[in-house]
Amino acid sequence: MQQQKVLVFGGRGQLGVELCRVFEQRGFSVERYDRQSLDVTDRERVEQVIATRGANLVINSAAYNQVDIAEQEPLAAFEANALAVRNLALACRQSGARLVTYSTDYVFDGCKGSAYVETDTPHPLGAYGVSKLAGELYAQAYLEDALILRTSGVFGPAGAATARGNFVETMLRLARRDQPIRVLADHLGSPTYAPALAERTADMVAKGLSGVYHMGGGNAISWYKFAELIFELAGLSPVLEPTDERQYRTPARRPKYSALSNQKAEAAGIPAMPPLREAVTAYLDARRQAVTLQSS
Ligand SMILES: NC(=O)c1ccc[n+]([C@@H]2O[C@H](COP(=O)([O-])OP(=O)(O)OC[C@H]3O[C@@H](n4cnc5c(N)ncnc54)[C@H](OP(=O)(O)O)[C@@H]3O)[C@@H](O)[C@H]2O)c1
Repeated sequence: MQQQKVLVFGGRGQLGVELCRVFEQRGFSVERYDRQSLDVTDRERVEQVIATRGANLVINSAAYNQVDIAEQEPLAAFEANALAVRNLALACRQSGARLVTYSTDYVFDGCKGSAYVETDTPHPLGAYGVSKLAGELYAQAYLEDALILRTSGVFGPAGAATARGNFVETMLRLARRDQPIRVLADHLGSPTYAPALAERTADMVAKGLSGVYHMGGGNAISWYKFAELIFELAGLSPVLEPTDERQYRTPARRPKYSALSNQKAEAAGIPAMPPLREAVTAYLDARRQAVTLQSS
């Protein structure tokens, strides 16, 4: 049987790194593209790469993720999160490749008060959420079989080396300063471990699933409780104080309760996500190993 080929865009992001690893392990021929080798907003280049590489599958984990800065530069967010997905969808339609792309819990306003399911009506609160929702719509406008995975608070070991990092890295960095750390206790999400998300993406591709699926970390947790868990497992004890959205204001409004229910995916036979404690332990182990390797 001919080996399946996958193109991974955004391949140096914390999810992209895991996607390349997992699809390689599953026997795919993997071509990784980072922003330098392929800017997804460059329509001609996207068309050329997808038309000539003979891939069965295109996975887009490239994204503009700067939620607050997007309020000052909504066009940049829209280009990377919406128009780029249009570029990819049009090119996949031409070549017959399947498209997998990622969206966010921030397509919701957080007013529901319980975990969001795929049939809930989106209502983003800012430029980032609007741009990601538009990306979903573009994928669905041009393709019958696009797989759109909405996820939440992604953290993967590669985040330790990227400029933007992730919540775990932010907490570890803040713990090195000798100052109290204030974290929102009234906002809940479902933090998602990138390696586990990549594994489930491959499971979904293998099953030929298409449409919108939620794939968050599994359980709802406040950012404060998540920080507490990180410090406990990292063996750190900084002064951690709960705060709320009235005291801690950000340029972008964020949904208060944006946990995602994975029930639809689980009903389709996709394994449940690992418990958050297990995921953070694995994250910290992977991080320690990377540091040991660098220093040896
Ligand atoms: N991170 C989260 O908390 C979170 C939450 C919900 C949903 N998601 C979604 O999950 C997916 C994976 O996110 P992630 O956590 O892996 O993000 P990430 O670590 O920030 O990786 C995104 C990658 O995309 C690249 N990129 C940005 N603009 C690009 C462009 N125009 N062309 C090509 N590459 C570009 C970035 O490169 P540079 O480093 O050079 O910018 C980065 O390597 C995204 O769709 C994201 O929206 C993430």
